[in-house]
Amino acid sequence: MNDSTAAFDLASLVAAHDDVNAYEAVVPPIVQTSLFTFSSYAEMEQTYKGLKVRPTYSRGLNPTVRIFEEKVAAMEGAEDGLAFGSGMAAISSTVITFVKPGDRVVCVRHVYPDAYRLFETLLSRYGVSVTYVDGRDEAAVEAALPGATLFYMESPTSWTMETHDVQSLAAMAKRHGVITAIDNSWASPVFQQPIKLGVDLVLHSASKYLGGHSDVVAGVVVGSKEMIGRIRSGTLPYLGGKLSPFDAWLLIRGLRTLPIRMKAHEAAALHVARRLLDHDAVASVEHPGLGNQLPAGLSGTSGLFSFTFREGAVDIAKFTDALSLFKIGVSWGGHESLVVPAQVVRVQAAGPNSAIDFGVSANMVRLHVGLEGADALWNDLAAAIDSARLA
Ligand SMILES: Cc1ncc(COP(=O)(O)O)c(C=O)c1O
Repeated sequence: MNDSTAAFDLASLVAAHDDVNAYEAVVPPIVQTSLFTFSSYAEMEQTYKGLKVRPTYSRGLNPTVRIFEEKVAAMEGAEDGLAFGSGMAAISSTVITFVKPGDRVVCVRHVYPDAYRLFETLLSRYGVSVTYVDGRDEAAVEAALPGATLFYMESPTSWTMETHDVQSLAAMAKRHGVITAIDNSWASPVFQQPIKLGVDLVLHSASKYLGGHSDVVAGVVVGSKEMIGRIRSGTLPYLGGKLSPFDAWLLIRGLRTLPIRMKAHEAAALHVARRLLDHDAVASVEHPGLGNQLPAGLSGTSGLFSFTFREGAVDIAKFTDALSLFKIGVSWGGHESLVVPAQVVRVQAAGPNSAIDFGVSANMVRLHVGLEGADALWNDLAAAIDSARLA
């Protein structure tokens, strides 16, 4: 982590918005209710006329969910936030709010595969087209933007870990009057705050680092009051992908340790990535922190990265099975270390096979480096490579 992130007082923001007048409890209550009753006809009428803001039904407003939304908005430096029952619910509701038939979306290549499938299968059915660009090629982005409605970003990208100059891309989109949205799940607000880089809407799979314990599936979007208001009133009530109060409570708990977890993921992943880079069985390591300098706006790196074995060096199935601390599984962002061999996701039966479309080679392996300890994790990987060597 560099000095600017260390100086950022994230801890005080994480502590914000807990005062819900509940017996002065240090932890806010789980308001586990579907509906809220009114004391009188007059109060109900005032609420429906919009003269009084108070919860009516938890699909709209729930106090525990609201605390989570306000915390994430504060951490990202945004005016407002809205939470969902999954990251994909946040992504789909946001995108659908801002596009209509005939519109065009520009999307950086190699985004999270289910976001790509949303664009390829659902948006195309409703007459919205998508242009994919290499986000590192600013001339290509500039050429694609005129006439587009929305520019969808992810930096670093899934699997291939391509990083972009988010500030420069956001400024470019602004010049062309194009709304910008970014998936910030990988960096978390600890390492990247895209609102401050000029992006309009910041999305998270809160199932990842925000939750941090692999016990919740959730999503959130933050942005200006006006834009979040459009999603809140124009899309969420009808698509209905609302976060539950109990899951919001777990996420609030997760947020309290986000800064220290991110520092621990960063240190352990960098240790493992550097050791892999030096290993003779490894052809390349796709980790944004291994170059001389991080891209502008990214102040640190998280625990997720990929590496590629030299062709014929290792039996990848045997390597995977020989690991003991790294569990075999998708998702990431929790306390635990995980491994995904690319050759398995490349044979996925359903949907467009984006792993191949995205140039993910069969020799690639994705790791999530958890909190078990860098030395123990490296020893686990080194022993598994040794036991699976072919050449
Ligand atoms: C980068 C990224 N964005 C979005 C998502 C989708 O989030 P969720 O699984 O919470 O719907 C994922 C899930 O793996 C992801 O890796």
